[in-house]
Amino acid sequence: MTRDNARLGLAALCAVAVLMLAVLSVWASGPLRDGIFFACGLFAAGAALFAWSRGTLDQKASDMTRIGSASDKTLTWMDLAAAMPDPAIVLDEASVILNYNSAARALFERLRQGVPLEHVNRDPELIAAVSGTLRNGEKNTARLVPRGSAGQRLIATVAPLGITGEHPPIAALITIHDESEQHRLLEMRTDFIANASHELRTPLASVRGFIETLQGPARNDEKARERFLAIMADQAERMTRLIDDLLLLSRVEEKANLKPTGRVDLNDLIEDVLRSLQPFAEERSVAIDVEPASDPLMAMGDRDELFQVFHNLVENAVKYGRDGGYVKISLTKKASGRERFPTLAVVSISDNGPGIAPEHLPRLTERFYRVSAEHSRNIGGTGLGLAIVKHVLNRHQGELSVQSVVGQGTTFKVALPAYK
Ligand SMILES: Nc1ncnc2c1ncn2[C@@H]1O[C@H](COP(=O)(O)OP(=O)(O)O)[C@@H](O)[C@H]1O
Ligand SMILES: [Mg+2]
Repeated sequence: MTRDNARLGLAALCAVAVLMLAVLSVWASGPLRDGIFFACGLFAAGAALFAWSRGTLDQKASDMTRIGSASDKTLTWMDLAAAMPDPAIVLDEASVILNYNSAARALFERLRQGVPLEHVNRDPELIAAVSGTLRNGEKNTARLVPRGSAGQRLIATVAPLGITGEHPPIAALITIHDESEQHRLLEMRTDFIANASHELRTPLASVRGFIETLQGPARNDEKARERFLAIMADQAERMTRLIDDLLLLSRVEEKANLKPTGRVDLNDLIEDVLRSLQPFAEERSVAIDVEPASDPLMAMGDRDELFQVFHNLVENAVKYGRDGGYVKISLTKKASGRERFPTLAVVSISDNGPGIAPEHLPRLTERFYRVSAEHSRNIGGTGLGLAIVKHVLNRHQGELSVQSVVGQGTTFKVALPAYK
């Protein structure tokens, strides 16, 4: 039973008892009659006290509810609260709940009018923030730790209401904001900056080391100078690649919400990609075999960005595949089964390399994620290629999937909305 129902029940009981006593007093006499009158008075006082306390709470709630009027309608707290996207609760000066909105009810299932806040949520930080605000009229914030959702980050702001002059506030408003997503993005950005700095610092340290050696001990050593300068050029190239990839990633991210509208012939695009990677494949003795689509396969998209996608996937297949192995590329068309983009262009890129263990597969498109960072760095990888692929495909409403069998090879598949 709720507290309100209990109160109503008590009031009804009082009323019935007073009625019965009044009837009894008509035929009773002497001390019995005096006793009945006394008891009657006692009940009446109890009922009056209850009605007064209930009335004060209701009055307080209704005073709190009137927030202004527009034309002939008086706006109430409920109008305002319903329009607020975040959970909101109003408390009186004794931390008793006067009102709340449905978002707050969804968050705290024990939320009721007339109940002290402590009965609803015992979070010490929140209780301290509320009592601080009610005492000195200052705005406070508290971090809430919701039960059963470890990653969630809720921030409650407690603001004073109805301060006049030196008097403390007569009420307080708690609003709760979910900052989980903001916090996650902030953490991601911090990690990203730390990773990017680390990736740049390593080649930079190596270049500085060689400069010092060339200025000092190897000053007159012609052979060493040639060797060191070649290494320095390599390291400088690595830094350039990293900066190019970082810029490319940020440009793609910037355009995330702009849907590309161009037409790209994928048979033609793959031919261009192969032309640019042919020398690299020959260096590693990898044979690339293409099975083009029988008809022109026109994808919806931005040619330069799609070039980056397939360049990275084919380059990965060559460099992480087997030396002297093969890469197979096939282009096909398939029905998506969806109304929006009924036809998909599918490009599949397979290698017969060592493959990727299943635990790495879900993380491959994270920035700087590499199965072996050392191996990737040694062959000129930045760890950003698949992150760029993922972002470009998201913007193109395309999909990337990967299948790999350790010891046998890996297949990456790209599906893109296509023109019929
Ligand atoms: N075909 C593949 N076979 C095996 N591993 C691969 C293949 N393609 C990608 N990978 C793994 O995924 C990681 C991320 O790839 P990518 O983001 O392109 O970075 P990078 O090529 O700069 O190392 C690579 O470092 C490699 O460990
Ligand atoms: Mg790559």
